[in-house]
Amino acid sequence: TEIRKLLVLPGDHIGPEIIAEALKSLTVLEEERPDFKVQISYGLIGGASLDKTNEPITDEVLDAALSSDAILLGSVGGPEWAHVPGAISPEKGILRLRQRLDAFANIRPCRFCASSLMDQSALKSDVVKDVNFIVVRENCGGAYFGTKTEGEDEASDLWIYRRAEIERCARVSAALARTMVKDDKSPAIVWNADKANVLASGRFWRTVTHDVFEREFSDIELRDQLADSAAMIMVKAPTKLNGVIHTDNTFGDILSDISGGIVGSLGVLPSASVCGIPGEGPVKGIYEAVHGSAPDISGRGEANPIAQILSLAMLLRYSFSTPREADLLEEAVRKTLDSHDNNGLEIRTKDLGGSSSTREVGDTVASQFRILLKEVDDR
Ligand code: NAD
Ligand code: IPM
Ligand code: MN
Repeated sequence: TEIRKLLVLPGDHIGPEIIAEALKSLTVLEEERPDFKVQISYGLIGGASLDKTNEPITDEVLDAALSSDAILLGSVGGPEWAHVPGAISPEKGILRLRQRLDAFANIRPCRFCASSLMDQSALKSDVVKDVNFIVVRENCGGAYFGTKTEGEDEASDLWIYRRAEIERCARVSAALARTMVKDDKSPAIVWNADKANVLASGRFWRTVTHDVFEREFSDIELRDQLADSAAMIMVKAPTKLNGVIHTDNTFGDILSDISGGIVGSLGVLPSASVCGIPGEGPVKGIYEAVHGSAPDISGRGEANPIAQILSLAMLLRYSFSTPREADLLEEAVRKTLDSHDNNGLEIRTKDLGGSSSTREVGDTVASQFRILLKEVDDR
């Protein structure tokens, strides 16, 4: 049997708290499927790495990432590192990791992972209930990675795109649209969100995106939506954007946090930064929540582990080629959130209006996952 290599980078604040919960479900999978073997190694990233090595990520950890099949990443940053220069900030650890692995597309789905969460949305239930879009965020270009200057009186970030960067991201958007078929079985719509009305890089983004779709995916409907107006639609009528939102690094960062308002909490939104086109065999990837290290709640056992657990499900699907187990883990999350404990209380953390601890939620998901894996075995 093939042994899969996983690198775990817990990071800072709630990062280690939620990583511990996700690993419980991975252990369950190993116990229930003897031919599923994972070799886990650990590394430092973010503030935890800075404190030990003066770097937010070391070459050793980057090399370990390069030789792994997947990386499960917690979250980084916090007020204790606010004074650190930008070039070595905790957040730079994540950016270096994305760049070194060339994890060029960040997949960020927005949907309800359990129907009982609809009443947690900041928006009206009937506006959000059928929401189902995936933000595909370009992850290794744009303003994040262009040349930077930082002087006394001015600073700049070069917002630059090369043709190949837009093309490969468009191929990920198209591949996901094919997996999200509409009622008539045709691929989902791809919404191209840019600022072609203002930015030169935005006009280029639009031209290159249309070229790729005309050449390679002429059966997929591609529609342009300016990024600012996409932000408005996400709040006013998010289901209009159902499908794939293909967008630049900066816009994708912002739009995917709006998703947190749609589903009620950032604590349930997973992501995958992939190094290839999903569906064309296993891809290497970095799996992390959309949210940050939540220093305001760390150390209290209050953090919601669902985003990290659902990121593990994406890992199983894209990097470990175990899509059925990925589905079952998502089902275990759904069952956990839709069920009640012995006192009739909902099993959910404070951000979702509950009073369960991080550990209770993680334990319940892991035991539901075990039940589901056994059930499938029996059939
Ligand atoms: P944040 O996402 O950490 O937190 C925003 C709000 O959401 C906070 O009130 C927080 O308590 C809440 N929240 C987030 N995740 C939660 C969870 N799992 N359960 C319950 N509540 C949750 O954003 P921020 O406060 O602006 O940033 C904090 C730090 O995280 C900063 O240093 C930032 O740079 C960093 N950051 C890291 C990542 C990452 O590691 N992937 C992503 C975003 C921000
Ligand atoms: C995210 C985060 C990161 C980003 C930071 C921590 C580098 O906000 O993953 O959304 O801006 O990409
Ligand atoms: Mn972000």
